[in-house]
Amino acid sequence: MSAPVNTVEPGTVVIVTGGARGIGAELCRSLAAQGAAVVVADVGDAAPLVAEQIEAGHTVSSVPTDVGDEAAWARLVATTLDRHDRVDALVNNAAVYQGLGAKTPFTEISVAEWDRVMGVNTRGVWLGMRAVHPAMQEQGYGRIVNIASSTVHMGVPYFAHYTASKGAVIALTRSVAREVGRDGITVNAISPGLVETEATFALNDPSYVATAAQGRAVARGMVPGDLCPAVSFLCSRGSGFITGQTVVVDGGVTFL
Ligand SMILES: NC(=O)c1ccc[n+]([C@@H]2O[C@H](COP(=O)([O-])OP(=O)(O)OC[C@H]3O[C@@H](n4cnc5c(N)ncnc54)[C@H](O)[C@@H]3O)[C@@H](O)[C@H]2O)c1
Repeated sequence: MSAPVNTVEPGTVVIVTGGARGIGAELCRSLAAQGAAVVVADVGDAAPLVAEQIEAGHTVSSVPTDVGDEAAWARLVATTLDRHDRVDALVNNAAVYQGLGAKTPFTEISVAEWDRVMGVNTRGVWLGMRAVHPAMQEQGYGRIVNIASSTVHMGVPYFAHYTASKGAVIALTRSVAREVGRDGITVNAISPGLVETEATFALNDPSYVATAAQGRAVARGMVPGDLCPAVSFLCSRGSGFITGQTVVVDGGVTFL
């Protein structure tokens, strides 16, 4: 477990999508350890994480949610408001990543697979921002953090649907940031490098992961906890004059 990163204010109400496992689960642990009330939204089973966090004395609950589904977002936001009265922050982390399977030339990606990836990774982020906006606007305050990917900046091959979906996340971040700044809402993206999650090892050969580690300025493997400080900061009040930005957290591979 990552060390607490004391930048998010205790009591901050945060929705984390895709929080049942991998990076999302570690973000939930970190935010909860700082005193945030975390609502996990995932199509997968979040019960083990919620049980672990309640056992630790933290405020974590879940709402089963498919982020590509508009009605599911309405239920998620309504339930969060019932439980906690506010939605201070949204971390749009859910994506089709592990489910991508083997890397595929762009000529061989099927239309159905293209639409599936875009429907979760891009439409899910747009639907999420749209769903929390009324509550955040009424509060006059909100923080939205969209998880993109350093593959966008690096042009990783055989991953065209995924990189396109994440490039669109960065574009959405910029457009929506300009639309909601006057409501007291900031919208930023984070581009993680290759993180050593179960999903990454399912998709890549161990030698590819090891080579990536050696190519970093900070030459070591990247773990989910490496993303926690940036996410916490961007979910905090203190980050209020930063919006529309993409923060690359990759140990120093890509310099924007
Ligand atoms: N692991 C990496 O190297 C890496 C690098 C860059 C960016 N990212 C991004 O970080 C995020 C997390 O990555 P991860 O490695 O933990 O991936 P992962 O595949 O292990 O986790 C994704 C989570 O999203 C959930 N999810 C998938 N589809 C969903 C849907 N329709 N609705 C709700 N939840 C859904 C899954 O159940 C899972 O809990 C993703 O956005 C991914 O694209 C990962």
